Amino acid sequence: MNHFLDIHLTDPAALRSMIESASAMKAARNGRGLAAPDDETPLAGRMVALIFEKPSTRTRVSFDVGVRQMGGQTMVLSGSEMQLGHGETIADTARVLSRYVDLIMIRTYEESVLQELAEYASVPVINGLTNRTHPCQIMADVMTYEEHRGPIAGRKVVWVGDGNNVCASFLHAAGQFGFDFTFTGPPPLDPEVEWLEFARGKGIAVEIVRDPFAAVEGADLVVTDTWVSMHDSQSIRERRHNMLRPYQVNERLMAAAKPDVLFMHCLPAHREDEVTSAVMDGPHSVIWDEAENRLHAQKAIMRWCLGV
Ligand code: CP
Repeated sequence: MNHFLDIHLTDPAALRSMIESASAMKAARNGRGLAAPDDETPLAGRMVALIFEKPSTRTRVSFDVGVRQMGGQTMVLSGSEMQLGHGETIADTARVLSRYVDLIMIRTYEESVLQELAEYASVPVINGLTNRTHPCQIMADVMTYEEHRGPIAGRKVVWVGDGNNVCASFLHAAGQFGFDFTFTGPPPLDPEVEWLEFARGKGIAVEIVRDPFAAVEGADLVVTDTWVSMHDSQSIRERRHNMLRPYQVNERLMAAAKPDVLFMHCLPAHREDEVTSAVMDGPHSVIWDEAENRLHAQKAIMRWCLGV
């Protein structure tokens, strides 16, 4: 049994095998309708619980569709409607769910909830986002980069804006997949030192460059995310916007990167805030492939967790 809790906690060879498996499953579907099952149905007879304590469009739909394509069934649960939201402990919830389902995916606030769930569950647990990390997203992002441009190892990825949970998982991936990583944003929003040190410890180049135009020089991939995350209070909105306005990803910034640079955003985006529509809908953007690849990458993650 394998939990998929974070990219830095997962063996690089296993991460690579998941990317290969995701690409193979995508190729095998060959554009067939989303509702159609795969030729292989490794999750037949399996039940997957999808727990959401925060809103979601992509994670919810892609996990649900992915399980069904592989022949399994899902149960989508909202944290507030479970006893978990009304005083039952995480450990007890983990023990009980393990008697009913084969796999648990959870999107939650505190990382400690994910960790405790995994500690007490006797079935695999997948991190569908916490305040600190978003590993499933970055598995899809690595897959998307490689689909368009070949191996990501040795490439330069530039994160623009808030060093948030998605940025954290990109730093983990930089260390595990061997690509260089530059962060550009205001000092109060730097990524956590622990994650910077993790990536640096893997021997890759990790830089913080305050000038966004200098940062994107030579970039193979430019990535950004919303300026206010789901777990942030809306009261910081105006301050964040003032701080991050110089870090908007627009055509002028993209022009300072390599001519064949790609643009990614995990979505949902706030058009004309962190990124302009011209970039989102422009020639460098691969955001819709990135969203689709959540489906394929997570199918591979689930198969790895279950060993099927
Ligand atoms: N990128 C992402 O996780 O999207 P959702 O919040 O819609 O799941």
